[in-house]
Amino acid sequence: MIWLVGSRGMLGTELSVFFEKRGIPYIGTGREIDITDRSTLRTFIRGVSSVVEWVINCAAYTAVDKAEDEAEMCRKINAEGAENIAVVAHEIGAKCIHFSTDYVFDGKRISPYTENGATNPIGVYGETKRNGEILVLQNCPASYIIRTAWLYGRYGSNFARTMCKLMNMEECVSVVEDQTGSPTWTFDLACTVGAFMSEPDIPFGIYHFTDEGNITWFDFAAAIYKKARKARVVKKECAVVPCTSDKFPAKVKRPAYSVLDKTKIKTTLGIVIPSWDTSLTSFLCSSED
Ligand SMILES: NC(=O)c1ccc[n+]([C@@H]2O[C@H](COP(=O)([O-])OP(=O)(O)OC[C@H]3O[C@@H](n4cnc5c(N)ncnc54)[C@H](OP(=O)(O)O)[C@@H]3O)[C@@H](O)[C@H]2O)c1
Repeated sequence: MIWLVGSRGMLGTELSVFFEKRGIPYIGTGREIDITDRSTLRTFIRGVSSVVEWVINCAAYTAVDKAEDEAEMCRKINAEGAENIAVVAHEIGAKCIHFSTDYVFDGKRISPYTENGATNPIGVYGETKRNGEILVLQNCPASYIIRTAWLYGRYGSNFARTMCKLMNMEECVSVVEDQTGSPTWTFDLACTVGAFMSEPDIPFGIYHFTDEGNITWFDFAAAIYKKARKARVVKKECAVVPCTSDKFPAKVKRPAYSVLDKTKIKTTLGIVIPSWDTSLTSFLCSSED
């Protein structure tokens, strides 16, 4: 049995559907089981401890800009909350899967970041996620930390869905071309979680996972437009124009280059990761929007 924490967010919903479709038993919880309150977690886990073998934590504070003003709340959820989950998972002898982010890096490199590369977050969100990684590994050594990036999918609010909405409403959308990364379909990440769970003896620790290939947000938006027009998800013409980040003043800078090296996960799990291009097509063709 799996305990899926944060089961109603973007990734949590994708995983819930993934488990349901495959008949994999899980218990999903949202805010009603507050991860910042260890005693609530303990009370909850006591009722199910004999059956829970995996704890998957999708709960997080993910509002990157707001985090600069709500640093304490962000820290409580991303660091203390992650620690609480690791502690209770360890107490019942469960394995833990926890998600982290490319934002633990500063984005100053020009080649992909490996798992053991030096972290240097440039904002509160990235800093709290890095602290969460450390606390999870310290408190539940039987943990996999999956660092991922640029998630999009059918559920929740995300770039691909927002772009499609805007392209159906506006004549023109401007998108930044000075940030490079790897768009990642939540369904591909769910499949990778499934691979971790079905392979025994995978060494615990940090793994990088994104879809293959790297592009700018502008390239990604242009590809969304082209494919969404073809799939009739975007029903009218819209110009997609490049701009720089200065056009969208934000509280915190994003890493300019956040490409993650995936050699470790590919060789350890023996998986072939789809390209962002193939996955975007699959997503748009399966989209109900
Ligand atoms: N989105 C991305 O592009 C991206 C990129 C890299 C890494 N990640 C990581 O991937 C993971 C999943 O991200 P996501 O985009 O799916 O996040 P999300 O959509 O924002 O979902 C996070 C969930 O956590 C829940 N939550 C927040 N505080 C909680 C608390 N105190 N107790 C219990 N639940 C709480 C939220 O509940 P409410 O719905 O009630 O707010 C929400 O359902 C996170 O660890 C994130 O850092 C995401």
